[in-house]
Amino acid sequence: MTKTKSSMKTKRHVLARVDEIKPGERRVVEVDGREIGVFNLNGEFYALLNYCPHRAGPLCHGRVRPLVTAENVTQVAYEREGEILKCPWHQWEFDIKTGQALFDARLRVKSYRVGVEAGEVVIYA
Ligand code: FES
Repeated sequence: MTKTKSSMKTKRHVLARVDEIKPGERRVVEVDGREIGVFNLNGEFYALLNYCPHRAGPLCHGRVRPLVTAENVTQVAYEREGEILKCPWHQWEFDIKTGQALFDARLRVKSYRVGVEAGEVVIYA
């Protein structure tokens, strides 16, 4: 019998102790054959599949950047420091908190529910 999305069960996985992934750090781990990047943004944890929807690049190994906005070419602003992930292959950018691509609302990388339980970072994937 072939597994369908709706028949796949979400399981709890312990990834690390909280103090092993400090604010501003990330860790890429393997969970049931999938590579998942776990990011600590100021004490809140977020998890994304390490698979860029553009051309399957190793997204979670990319640079973490602020959101860059501009009223015009002379007024550039940097917001949400450390919350934007830039794919190392072709520089597409994604919101670490949601997996949403910045330039196209129809694109996103898969994200996972992650949290802290009894001092451990856990993911449901
Ligand atoms: S593979 Fe990620 S931007 Fe192309």
